Amino acid sequence: MDWFVRAFIKSSLAWLAAGVTIGLAMALYPPLAVYRLAHLHLNLLGFVVQIIYGVSMHVVPRFFGQPLVYRRMAEAQYWLAQAGVVLLVTGFTLRVPGITGATVCLIAGALASAGAAYCFVINVWLTINASPMQTVLGRGGRSVPLRPQPM
Ligand code: HEM
Ligand code: HEM
Repeated sequence: MDWFVRAFIKSSLAWLAAGVTIGLAMALYPPLAVYRLAHLHLNLLGFVVQIIYGVSMHVVPRFFGQPLVYRRMAEAQYWLAQAGVVLLVTGFTLRVPGITGATVCLIAGALASAGAAYCFVINVWLTINASPMQTVLGRGGRSVPLRPQPM
């Protein structure tokens, strides 16, 4: 297994723990709901998106019989995604009391997170295109079943 697959899955679990902790704090003490944006991006961008990154980058090469075309891009994607969540969530948090630098932090996090997402899209898309597997079509353009079927 590639190190970044394992790292994405473990990072996503850490972001879930952080996101859920803020959620719990907001539920227990409603004035903290001003940190809603930090909470939902930790859960959605940190946990949901990153677990999808990790699982897809393990499964897609195996489904398509084709290693990821840009391994170094996948490694860069991992660090961009982590920096992105840290900066974006810090930006959302610092923006609440109006601390200087919050917007710069938020924009840097947005660029890093978007960069990671673009790396993912390009890498997975081109990996599927490079797959040696051809679509096998049966009569009427329907795909052929994988296991022999009774006549
Ligand atoms: C123990 C788990 C969680 C707790 C206690 C919790 C708690 C909360 C609370 C109290 C709010 C509302 C804040 C307000 O008054 O505006 C909220 C908003 C939100 N939470 Fe969670 N949450 C949890 C897990 C999650 C997870 C796992 C996700 C996503 C995968 C999520 C996504 C959201 C979103 C998108 C909003 C914003 C909804 C809006 O825009 O109004 N939460 N959460
Ligand atoms: C590059 C990644 C992302 C960036 C830069 C980003 C940035 C933002 C910004 C600037 C806002 C508006 C905050 C405001 O009201 O001032 C926002 C809201 C929101 N984002 Fe994201 N986001 C990203 C990814 C995501 C993803 C992947 C999801 C869900 C899977 C998501 C879910 C939401 C939701 C639900 C809101 C609305 C919250 C509300 O107003 O109730 N975001 N995001």
